[in-house]
Amino acid sequence: MNRIVAVFVVVLTGWAMSPRTAAAQQADLADPPSPTHYMGREIARTMHFSGAPWLVRESRQREEDCRMLLEALEIRPGQKVCDMGCGNGFYTLALARLVGPTGLVYAVDIQPEMLRLLRARLTEERVKNVRPLLGTASDPRLPSESCDLVLCVDVYHEFSHPAEMLARMHDSLRDGGRLVLAEFRGEDPAVPIKPLHKMTKAQVRAELEPAGFRLVREFDRLPWQHLLFFSPEERPGQP
Ligand SMILES: C[S@@+](CC[C@H](N)C(=O)[O-])C[C@H]1O[C@@H](n2cnc3c(N)ncnc32)[C@H](O)[C@@H]1O
Repeated sequence: MNRIVAVFVVVLTGWAMSPRTAAAQQADLADPPSPTHYMGREIARTMHFSGAPWLVRESRQREEDCRMLLEALEIRPGQKVCDMGCGNGFYTLALARLVGPTGLVYAVDIQPEMLRLLRARLTEERVKNVRPLLGTASDPRLPSESCDLVLCVDVYHEFSHPAEMLARMHDSLRDGGRLVLAEFRGEDPAVPIKPLHKMTKAQVRAELEPAGFRLVREFDRLPWQHLLFFSPEERPGQP
């Protein structure tokens, strides 16, 4: 009887769990409490893994010109790069091709289900130079000074712990490494994305500069997104 009740409770709570709760539950184990706002901006909810097919939709290339984004990164064979908030790996697989067999891609996400979907694609495409990493909401668990590039596509605005994530990404960059953010343009009402999932250039700079990042390059030719390149500089304090 008790067993039946327990199963019922598990099914019921699992069914009722919101996407935010599911991601936050995992984060709760190791992370400080989640703020709702950061530097005057409302933090967007984590995109649930059930939305993963949208990330690999056929129209994405036409809408976001992902090939142009990849070219703008100027990745070289042999580099170590991180696809932060990789989801089901839309960019991970392309990055793996660009760094080649002598390079490495760290693919980080906080949802184990996203990493499962990624692993299935890696197996299917026989990709060997990707290391999936299950991060927490405040720590991607990257080795320090390991990356030439940390790429965040459509991810930064949903970090529940932006200050901690910025500090850890700073630690993960090698000398000369770059943090690159692709964010839907908050200044542009023609970009058909909800305002909560967009960012202005000014807001990105206001958040990254105090965390020890300097804007060193801007690529303005993508149809919907800002592409902003930051160099890690000295930082005053460490969260
Ligand atoms: C909108 S999806 C974008 C996925 C992928 N970058 C793409 O463009 O196809 C955002 C992803 O970031 C992940 N994410 C959110 N917060 C994260 C964090 N602190 N560390 C790593 N991944 C995170 C979510 O789980 C989700 O898979």
